[in-house]
Amino acid sequence: MFRIVSLLFLSVLLSACEQGPSPEEMMRISQTLVPDDPQLNEIYQRSCKNCHTLTSTGAPLTGDISAWQSRLDKGRDTLLENVVNGFGGMPPFGLCMDCNAEQLNALIDFMAQNPQQ
Ligand code: HEC
Repeated sequence: MFRIVSLLFLSVLLSACEQGPSPEEMMRISQTLVPDDPQLNEIYQRSCKNCHTLTSTGAPLTGDISAWQSRLDKGRDTLLENVVNGFGGMPPFGLCMDCNAEQLNALIDFMAQNPQQ
């Protein structure tokens, strides 16, 4: 009986590992990522980063590719529109009122770790 329980426990642990980093670990990873471009980095530091590196905000974390996939599946036009208008807990323009579409797209690519087209 004990053996079955410990086997079950082990398989739960293993399947948890297969799901990638824990939320705490993912949050730590997201906080180490910065855009290469200095201008983009400046925008990122004062806006997106404040929410997209904290699980408590409910925002998909920077670098959390699995969290971003369902967002990217909506299509770029919808994503951009949602950032501009605000979406759920995200204020309009993700708090970067002076950002243009090109910059917002580049920030989305960076956070979703989506190779730039
Ligand atoms: C004040 C917090 C906050 C800031 C600042 C912020 N976001 Fe968000 N963002 C969120 C939250 C929360 C969500 C998830 C909303 C939901 O799914 O209900 C989100 C979701 C998104 C999404 C997915 C939208 C969708 O349709 O699924 C994109 C794209 C996005 N943010 C881009 C950005 C960009 C780019 C910036 C910086 C310019 C930014 N965000 C700044 C909180 C923020």
